[in-house]
Amino acid sequence: MMRWPRRCWIALAKPEALGAGVIARASFQRQSGGMSEKLPPILLIGCGKMGGAMLSGWLEQGLADAVVVEPHAPAVAAFAGRVRVVADAAAIPADFRPAAVVTAIKPQEAPSSVPAYARFAGQGALFLSIMAGRSIASMQAALGAGTAVVRAMPNTPAAIRQGFTAAFAGPGVTAAQKALADALLAAIGEVAWVDQEDHINPVTAVSGGGPAYVFLLAEVLEAAAVEQGLPRDLARRMARATVAGSGALLGASEQDAAELRRAVTSPKGTTERALAVLMEPDAWPKAMSRAIHAATDRARELAG
Ligand SMILES: NC(=O)c1ccc[n+]([C@@H]2O[C@H](COP(=O)([O-])OP(=O)(O)OC[C@H]3O[C@@H](n4cnc5c(N)ncnc54)[C@H](OP(=O)(O)O)[C@@H]3O)[C@@H](O)[C@H]2O)c1
Repeated sequence: MMRWPRRCWIALAKPEALGAGVIARASFQRQSGGMSEKLPPILLIGCGKMGGAMLSGWLEQGLADAVVVEPHAPAVAAFAGRVRVVADAAAIPADFRPAAVVTAIKPQEAPSSVPAYARFAGQGALFLSIMAGRSIASMQAALGAGTAVVRAMPNTPAAIRQGFTAAFAGPGVTAAQKALADALLAAIGEVAWVDQEDHINPVTAVSGGGPAYVFLLAEVLEAAAVEQGLPRDLARRMARATVAGSGALLGASEQDAAELRRAVTSPKGTTERALAVLMEPDAWPKAMSRAIHAATDRARELAG
């Protein structure tokens, strides 16, 4: 069962109205729970893990018309009969006019693939890129100087509509296009807008890579439980349920993480003893700070 995102705007506009910023023809309506409105036509380039998660969210929201460019047929098998699938840009029907083109291919594919979609930029479509390390300037260099580009960084809980995406709207993105991008991203979880493109780099380090750090926590918890003599199976179940349950509790709670941590920590108890080790000056806080620093630097390097 899908949980409606807190901020979700659904476009009822014709694509050319969005592209030209003719908001008079674009009617945006606040989504109010049970009511479902159609999303405008979308072109999705790449339907792997992240593109597939987005597409499935949009279909739940009532996507009117989509063309998916995906050369790898098994990736789109789950969507058979619900969207049009083509193998490359040349096979897109000539009369298809998307309001938004979503690029969800690997960043290294971008230089050879993205220029083939420049005609949609010319028609005023919004480009929504989730490709790590691909700047707005590099997209505009491939598509045309005035192209409206939103750059976004989601994360893998998107697969269960519990992702977190930070997005930046480049120059020339209209209010209607930003609202459309917000609706497309809200289909996979929570959305936050940043006002500097460079902020996407630490976002990549924190929430983009964040699920990996949390999964690592489950791995090391399991290994430590085995070291204490517990059977591997029990250790795995315990580590998995503890990480998943704690994440769910944090998501459902009004309290912040520090308050929830203190609620588990009795004075002079076992958790307090463990936290004293983890929170030594050179332990967890420092290691996480160094890790995020390293990942942010790498994101900047990749962005060029
Ligand atoms: N996964 C994450 O945690 C994450 C988080 C944030 C952002 N992103 C970004 O999301 C994008 C997609 O990542 P992903 O994990 O979803 O990758 P993925 O699972 O490999 O999906 C990419 C898909 O695009 C297809 N493809 C390759 N070249 C294409 C082309 N020229 N035209 C159309 N489709 C093409 C691939 O087919 P083949 O398999 O046949 O190559 C594959 O099915 C990346 O740019 C990544 O930086 C990912």
